[in-house]
Amino acid sequence: MNNKKVLFQVTLLTGLLIAFIACRHQLLDNTGNGGTGSGGGGGVPQAVSGCSPDTVYFVNEIMPLISSNCTMSGCHDNITHAEGVNLTTYTNIMQYVVAGNASASKLYKVIIQTNGDRMPPPPMAAFTTDQKAKIQKWINQGAKNNNCIGSCDTAVFTYNAAIKVIIGNKCVGCHNPSSLGGGIDLSTYNGVNTVALNGRLYGSVANQPGFSPMPKNSPKLSDCEIRQIQKWINAGSLNN
Ligand code: HEC
Repeated sequence: MNNKKVLFQVTLLTGLLIAFIACRHQLLDNTGNGGTGSGGGGGVPQAVSGCSPDTVYFVNEIMPLISSNCTMSGCHDNITHAEGVNLTTYTNIMQYVVAGNASASKLYKVIIQTNGDRMPPPPMAAFTTDQKAKIQKWINQGAKNNNCIGSCDTAVFTYNAAIKVIIGNKCVGCHNPSSLGGGIDLSTYNGVNTVALNGRLYGSVANQPGFSPMPKNSPKLSDCEIRQIQKWINAGSLNN
């Protein structure tokens, strides 16, 4: 009786656990990344160290591009999801992607449209040729949930050698003149220096209370990257 009930619960829990693991495993397999560090589904993909110039990375390049152009309020965000389309996570985005085949992918088809069905819709600007090519290449490379960190050394913390590179890879997609996340432009030294001086840069990347954690919708920067930013700020956030 009671024992039976316990047995039933244990069986149920075990079943759920197995289903969960199997599901996660499948998501991992689906990324087809040969175990080199891609993560599953909407989860946080583990970063591969070393960014190959021939690879387009979802976390570093595609998610910022889509977030900054498609998930603003009133479009395909968590609250609005216009036409039922929500593009805030890898899993959601993959509903419109045929991995390995950009021309069969809805996501790619809508961004290359030349009529009113184009996304982002007019009067918003279309993606640039470079941005379209990036999305196309990412899909054709298997549309993996991949993430890379360049080689990082805390002894290197000048603006040009460290800060600009991190921000260029992980922030500028959402913080540039045509897409000013939070009204902040990080595409120039002056823009970065402004948030360095007012404390928001460090507060957001270190995920301190009271700040929006950055990079938004992406894994936290590595400890090494956060330390480089901190050292650069402490040394006077110079344009060096
Ligand atoms: C996917 C888009 C996106 C990415 C990527 C992103 N940001 Fe943001 N950022 C935003 C938005 C939108 C806001 C406005 C606040 C909010 O919505 O959370 C913001 C706000 C901020 C703020 C103000 C935070 C505050 O609490 O006042 C800073 C500083 C900032 N971002 C820096 C960065 C840095 C540095 C990176 C890269 C490491 C980054 N962002 C990556 C979209 C993004």
